[in-house]
Amino acid sequence: MSVDVVILGLGYVGLPLAQEATKAGMTVLGFDINARVVESLNSGKSHVDDLSDGDIADMIGAGFRATTDASEIRGAAAAVICVPTPLSEDQGPDLRAVIGATEAVAANLTEGMLVILESTTYPGTTDEVVRPILEKASGLTAGTDFHLAFSPERIDPGNEKFGAHNTPKVVGGHTPACSERAAQFYGRFIETVVRAKGTREAETAKLLENTYRHINIALVNEMARFCHELDIDLWDVIHAAASKPFGFQAFYPGPGVGGHCIPIDPNYLSHNVRAKLGYPFRFVELAQEINATMPAYVAHRAQNLLNDAGKATNGASVLLLGVTYKPNIADQRESPAVELAQKLGALGAKLSYHDPFVSQWKISDVDVLRVDDLESAVAAADLVILVQNHKQYDADRLAEIAPRFFDTRGVTKSDKAYRL
Ligand SMILES: NC(=O)c1ccc[n+]([C@@H]2O[C@H](COP(=O)([O-])OP(=O)(O)OC[C@H]3O[C@@H](n4cnc5c(N)ncnc54)[C@H](O)[C@@H]3O)[C@@H](O)[C@H]2O)c1
Repeated sequence: MSVDVVILGLGYVGLPLAQEATKAGMTVLGFDINARVVESLNSGKSHVDDLSDGDIADMIGAGFRATTDASEIRGAAAAVICVPTPLSEDQGPDLRAVIGATEAVAANLTEGMLVILESTTYPGTTDEVVRPILEKASGLTAGTDFHLAFSPERIDPGNEKFGAHNTPKVVGGHTPACSERAAQFYGRFIETVVRAKGTREAETAKLLENTYRHINIALVNEMARFCHELDIDLWDVIHAAASKPFGFQAFYPGPGVGGHCIPIDPNYLSHNVRAKLGYPFRFVELAQEINATMPAYVAHRAQNLLNDAGKATNGASVLLLGVTYKPNIADQRESPAVELAQKLGALGAKLSYHDPFVSQWKISDVDVLRVDDLESAVAAADLVILVQNHKQYDADRLAEIAPRFFDTRGVTKSDKAYRL
């Protein structure tokens, strides 16, 4: 059977995309270098939060299949690359997965194919990194013999309102014809397609979105510190400011930023500006600095709360509620809970955690005990810190039964809670 699209990288981004394309009636092949992921998908098991085993079964029923064999890419009408773009040791872009996936496509590129990069990356990657690999290995020319585009992934795991099909999709082609072809492709299963001028504009649009969030979160995180000192309730301030129907969007402070989009992606832009132009992207660097210090700030506030109660942190029992980076999902990437636990552990706190989404939590340098009986653990701890507000938590009730309850998410109304 001919394949309509091969999706390379079957993670948080690639798998929901494969699902939407399958639902639209396309024949979808998934390609991943991780044999365990491929095997588990082929046996009907999902490994991402947004898709259930039933969803995978439906996809398989509609013809989806996963493989580790790159030669199966040959003959597909389109290839979409959704592989990770982490940071290297020197905090610069690590494009090894993008290069690896591009090489897999390049070795199997045929005339007329559409190749799209979705991984978040710095401006110029599609044109300067992906295109030369494809052209060199195949002897074909982008824009003439095959189509090439960048389309940033905007998926928000756990978002019940916006999924792959109703989040507008930006596309930027190597040529206008490439944009058109990519727009037609996504138009089959995504409600709105927005055409950017070219690949660089589409790449930068994604980084602008992430940098915007990063900076605005840093703004309220910085304000959280001085508002606390000045005895101003920042949560109430934000609530009041957000009543303005135009020109303001609410962002909230927290114990630090996690996931990929906020702590990692803006580095791709600032690193690129510095490497290409020699000067810093100061907003990003400042936001990075402020957001990165939040776990230490929360640990410091926790220490003060214990101190106010005549307790030393050394030997105090501290219970962390919610250790994932976002509410209601299991994703722990870059979760600030790790650094918070390490800081409190270094101060001698006896740590435990509760998280309905995390059955095992192993972090270096500190032992953290898992608790299952939430209410009795909350009542027994010297200090409870709400790190992530999962829907299972009735924070006001927990604040009532805890000896001391530190709410880093601003969700409690109870006078008994201390808010960030
Ligand atoms: N997760 C999100 O919420 C999100 C949102 C927007 C954008 N993004 C971006 O999308 C990209 C993918 O992120 P993700 O969250 O899906 O990652 P992920 O880690 O969930 O999945 C990536 C998959 O790619 C596979 N892979 C690695 N190298 C490969 C290769 N050479 N060939 C084929 N497969 C390979 C891995 O085995 C893994 O299964 C990243 O650039 C990320 O920044 C992620």
